[in-house]
Amino acid sequence: MSSEYLGYTEKVLEHFRNPHNMGKLDDADGIGKAGSSMCGDIMWIYIRVENNTIVDCKFETVGCAAAIASSSVLTDFVKGKTIEEAQKISNKDVIAQLGGLPPIKVHCSVLAEDGIKAAIEDYLKKSHKL
Ligand code: FES
Repeated sequence: MSSEYLGYTEKVLEHFRNPHNMGKLDDADGIGKAGSSMCGDIMWIYIRVENNTIVDCKFETVGCAAAIASSSVLTDFVKGKTIEEAQKISNKDVIAQLGGLPPIKVHCSVLAEDGIKAAIEDYLKKSHKL
């Protein structure tokens, strides 16, 4: 089946087949959970922070191919960013990193935005910065 048929870019398929940074971060400084009421899919984002910079990020996603690819690309994209920079990441950035998503799959990228925002909020709460 070609990616054209599925409406997915090669980049989406690549991240779906070989997801980057999949799994739990045992020493996470922040954990975010996001879910879609549309489909019931769930995503957890784990971050480790040093000197206000995200030095590591992993994910666990129970969801569709687009949700897995969105979480995988997000974990690459967010590493090395400051907390302030990471707070500005939107699902549009995730879609851009994937080279696009079919319109019906745009909500899947929102999970990645919600997940990283929730992880940052958790980190800020735990480190008494909120
Ligand atoms: Fe639910 Fe993709 S269909 S996140």
